[in-house]
Amino acid sequence: MPSDSRLGRDPGTRWEILRSARWMAFAAGVICLCLGFWGCVTRVPPEPGAQKDVSALYDIKIEPLKPHDCAQCHPQIYSLVKNRGGRHRIDCRRCHVQFHMYRPGKVPYEEVIPKCSSCHGPVHGKELAECSGCHTEVHAPMNIPAGRALEQGCSVCHPDVDREMKTYITQHTDLYCISCHHSRHRYVPECQECHQPHTRGMTQADCLTCHRPHKALQVVYPADMSSEACTGCHRDAYEALKQSNTKHTAVSCTKCHLEKHRTFVRCSECHPEAHGAAMLQKFSTCNQCHGTAHSLYK
Ligand code: HEC
Ligand code: HEC
Ligand code: HEC
Ligand code: HEC
Ligand code: HEC
Ligand code: HEC
Ligand code: HEC
Ligand code: HEC
Ligand code: HEC
Ligand code: HEC
Ligand code: HEC
Ligand code: HEC
Repeated sequence: MPSDSRLGRDPGTRWEILRSARWMAFAAGVICLCLGFWGCVTRVPPEPGAQKDVSALYDIKIEPLKPHDCAQCHPQIYSLVKNRGGRHRIDCRRCHVQFHMYRPGKVPYEEVIPKCSSCHGPVHGKELAECSGCHTEVHAPMNIPAGRALEQGCSVCHPDVDREMKTYITQHTDLYCISCHHSRHRYVPECQECHQPHTRGMTQADCLTCHRPHKALQVVYPADMSSEACTGCHRDAYEALKQSNTKHTAVSCTKCHLEKHRTFVRCSECHPEAHGAAMLQKFSTCNQCHGTAHSLYK
């Protein structure tokens, strides 16, 4: 009976046993704590049926994706449609009835992209059937870049301009429409992108007052056009008039060369009764006695 005698006999030994038991209890406590903590981290799956509520994540009614949902992953296209989509600002899914179906080598791209013809007829007639040639970005359909595809349509949709260019032959007739109407459809150029003005300070509005771009040499101008506009090219006429210092000096160029370039107003239209008929019958022109209109003999 060694143990009994040991317990009974030695109070020191008994103390030691007591102490190690305390230690064991402490160690067990620490282990329990640790296990509890571990449990928190690993989160043991609950027994089936242990949790009554279905997770909130799965308790939502499923709605089809709206454009702003697509925008999460396709932000550029979304803002393109939003800002420049025009009348294509419809639900993405009206066009993309199926999407995320493209499988290289299996489902070809052409098959997954929407067809214009599913919603549009031959809008501009049979001649202009290659929609995407001109409407290059379907998400901004009226943003039409100038290019060869568009050039082929100019005369179909603007036959009047085409005819005008071919009727009044100038060096502009040899240009492509998109040489001037470059960058995008409806772009209108400044003449001074390619030309110097005749006199300094001329504006685009001035150019267009005298020139129509599609018949550029058919120059017309209003009767009150300033003589300044002519002097760049007709310095001689201007100087002669100035130096002669007659009453014609104050008359503007465009009063005598009325409205159309290279035309003349007859002397008699402004001086119907300058001299008696008898005198005028003897002389065929006024110039015989009066010199030229620019340098009158008074
Ligand atoms: C009017 C019809 C139409 C609408 C509306 C439309 N799409 Fe498209 N989308 C198309 C067509 C057609 C193509 C194919 C263009 C191509 O590649 O030539 C396309 C191509 C795409 C592509 C693949 C090509 C690329 O550029 O990455 C994505 C992504 C896309 N659309 C997303 C959207 C999103 C998002 C919306 C709504 C915000 C939307 N689309 C609205 C017709 C449409
Ligand atoms: C979670 C991100 C995500 C969302 C949301 C998303 N897409 Fe996409 N989509 C992609 C990825 C990734 C691709 C493949 C890479 C690429 O072409 O940009 C893709 C490709 C596409 C394509 C071209 C290829 C194909 O197979 O059709 C279209 C069209 C498209 N998405 C339309 C849409 C539309 C429409 C919506 C909303 C109804 C949408 N996506 C929502 C990520 C997304
Ligand atoms: C899901 C149908 C659908 C598809 C596919 C579609 N469109 Fe449209 N498109 C529309 C609708 C709707 C309008 C508005 C027209 C209207 O109100 O009559 C429109 C308008 C347009 C406009 C005028 C836009 C404006 O702002 O005035 C152009 C250009 C156009 N579509 C070109 C195309 C081209 C090119 C394609 C093929 C790449 C195409 N569309 C595919 C439905 C569609
Ligand atoms: C040769 C170039 C070209 C081709 C090809 C072309 N378009 Fe257009 N489309 C235009 C131009 C330019 C406009 C006028 C834009 C404007 O008013 O600024 C236009 C306008 C439109 C409009 C708006 C019409 C309106 O009255 O509001 C629609 C819709 C349209 N196109 C659809 C199509 C479809 C669908 C196709 C293919 C069958 C197509 N286009 C082919 C150049 C073209
Ligand atoms: C599919 C038909 C179509 C085609 C193709 C087309 N246009 Fe137009 N264009 C239009 C329509 C529609 C308008 C608007 C007319 C209006 O507002 O009276 C227009 C307007 C214009 C304008 C006037 C812009 C303004 O604000 O006054 C110019 C310039 C123009 N087009 C040049 C061209 C040129 C150049 C081409 C060829 C490169 C071309 N267009 C091809 C249909 C077309
Ligand atoms: C030398 C440059 C130039 C060339 C080439 C040119 N245009 Fe123009 N076009 C202009 C200018 C500048 C305007 C603006 C006129 C205005 O604002 O009064 C214009 C205006 C237009 C307009 C709108 C006003 C109108 O007169 O109906 C149309 C449409 C047009 N051009 C179509 C065409 C077509 C189609 C062609 C080719 C056959 C063409 N243009 C060639 C410079 C040019
Ligand atoms: C894209 C360039 C361009 C634009 C824009 C342009 N032109 Fe020209 N124009 C030319 C070229 C090229 C010629 C040939 C002579 C030359 O090289 O100067 C020419 C020649 C002319 C001629 C002489 C034609 C002839 O047969 O002798 C006149 C007049 C003219 N342009 C007026 C204008 C006016 C007015 C405008 C604005 C409405 C304008 N141009 C816009 C390129 C342009
Ligand atoms: C007062 C009217 C008037 C104004 C304004 C005007 N032009 Fe002219 N332009 C003419 C006349 C007239 C001609 C000679 C036409 C002829 O040879 O029959 C001409 C000729 C031209 C020519 C042919 C080459 C040359 O220099 O002889 C060009 C290019 C030209 N103009 C461009 C312009 C431009 C660009 C503007 C605006 C900055 C402009 N014009 C403003 C009347 C005008
Ligand atoms: C860009 C230069 C230019 C401008 C600006 C210009 N002209 Fe001319 N003009 C010409 C040329 C070139 C001729 C032909 C000269 C020739 O054949 O010797 C001409 C000829 C004339 C003729 C004579 C025609 C003939 O048969 O002998 C008259 C008149 C005339 N211009 C008046 C004007 C008036 C008025 C203005 C101002 C509104 C004007 N021009 C502006 C270049 C210009
Ligand atoms: C009072 C009327 C009158 C005025 C003002 C006038 N002209 Fe003339 N111009 C004529 C007549 C008439 C002719 C034909 C020659 C003649 O019989 O004197 C002519 C001839 C011309 C010619 C062609 C021959 C030549 O002499 O060079 C040009 C160019 C011309 N004018 C330009 C101008 C310009 C530019 C101005 C303004 C600075 C101007 N004219 C002002 C009446 C006028
Ligand atoms: C656009 C109208 C117009 C035309 C065309 C015109 N003139 Fe004049 N002419 C005038 C005016 C205005 C005066 C000044 C009259 C006044 O003050 O009583 C004038 C004055 C004169 C004078 C007097 C000059 C002076 O200084 O006293 C003579 C001479 C004359 N014209 C001759 C002619 C001859 C010759 C022609 C044709 C070659 C001609 N005119 C064409 C408007 C014109
Ligand atoms: C035989 C020479 C002769 C011819 C031809 C002639 N004139 Fe004169 N004209 C004169 C003389 C001289 C004067 C100045 C004496 C005067 O006041 O009568 C004059 C004066 C004028 C005056 C100025 C009158 C004033 O009140 O100051 C005008 C205007 C005029 N002529 C216009 C014309 C016109 C227009 C023609 C052609 C239809 C013409 N003349 C033909 C010799 C001529």
